Amino acid sequence: MTSTESVQKAPAKDPWDLPDVSGLVVGVLGGTGDQGRGLAYRLARAGQKVIIGSRAAERAAAAAGELGLGIEGLDNAECARRSDIVIVAVPWDGHAKTLEGLREELAGKLVVDCVNPLGFDKKGAYALKPEEGSAAEQAAALLPDSRVTAAFHHLSAVLLQDEAIEEIDTDVMVLGESRADTDVVQALAGRIPGMRGVFAGRLRNAHQVESLVANLISVNRRYKAHAGLRVTDV
Ligand SMILES: NC(=O)c1ccc[n+]([C@@H]2O[C@H](COP(=O)([O-])OP(=O)(O)OC[C@H]3O[C@@H](n4cnc5c(N)ncnc54)[C@H](OP(=O)(O)O)[C@@H]3O)[C@@H](O)[C@H]2O)c1
Repeated sequence: MTSTESVQKAPAKDPWDLPDVSGLVVGVLGGTGDQGRGLAYRLARAGQKVIIGSRAAERAAAAAGELGLGIEGLDNAECARRSDIVIVAVPWDGHAKTLEGLREELAGKLVVDCVNPLGFDKKGAYALKPEEGSAAEQAAALLPDSRVTAAFHHLSAVLLQDEAIEEIDTDVMVLGESRADTDVVQALAGRIPGMRGVFAGRLRNAHQVESLVANLISVNRRYKAHAGLRVTDV
């Protein structure tokens, strides 16, 4: 190896060396629903500043008031404007329309999509295949000026909202195009006791992660559980 080569080779970064995200404001679009409320509650309980968004500011304010912990409630647009990181927790049905309407407010923001496009019939839950490949890729297509990531798909809203539970024993698969952005989201997941954020690839692989929720729903029904996931050997 020449001396030039040795100078060029930076030491490999420790993948668990994640940034401090404690000062970032987290907004939750659709934060009045089970998943949004649960995430808002857990993150605020971990010390994060959280803003719940809703299509109606008064519904957001009511949900925020119930949760306490300094959580604020605003309409989705104001929530997006005021936040550094914006979690998308609306139903798949309203996903495209919600994001299209917030393109300006979400410009420059780190967006975290946790939407699972699922269908339900008498056999149970099954994965839908969005035209763009996944909900996260649809978000990326609709928000060209935002930094879109995907995470928090496999969490149980029941466990998130249960005040008696101190720790949630699960990993959070985090996907995105920029390592700096996925590091931030991994760090955010890691703020919740018991959770780890694990890098799980680029957005083109979000469909499998979103779809896996159909399997978790089957597990939950069979075992009367609120199943989570662990990635072993990392
Ligand atoms: N529940 C879970 O355990 C879980 C776990 C992981 C991921 N997720 C994902 O998280 C998302 C939210 O799940 P959820 O169970 O919390 O859903 P939800 O309660 O049905 O909806 C969340 C909120 O979205 C808003 N909303 C409803 N319809 C809308 C529409 N057409 N357009 C825009 N906003 C709409 C409502 O708030 P306002 O009326 O106040 O606007 C509602 O409170 C889903 O995409 C789901 O796949 C859920």
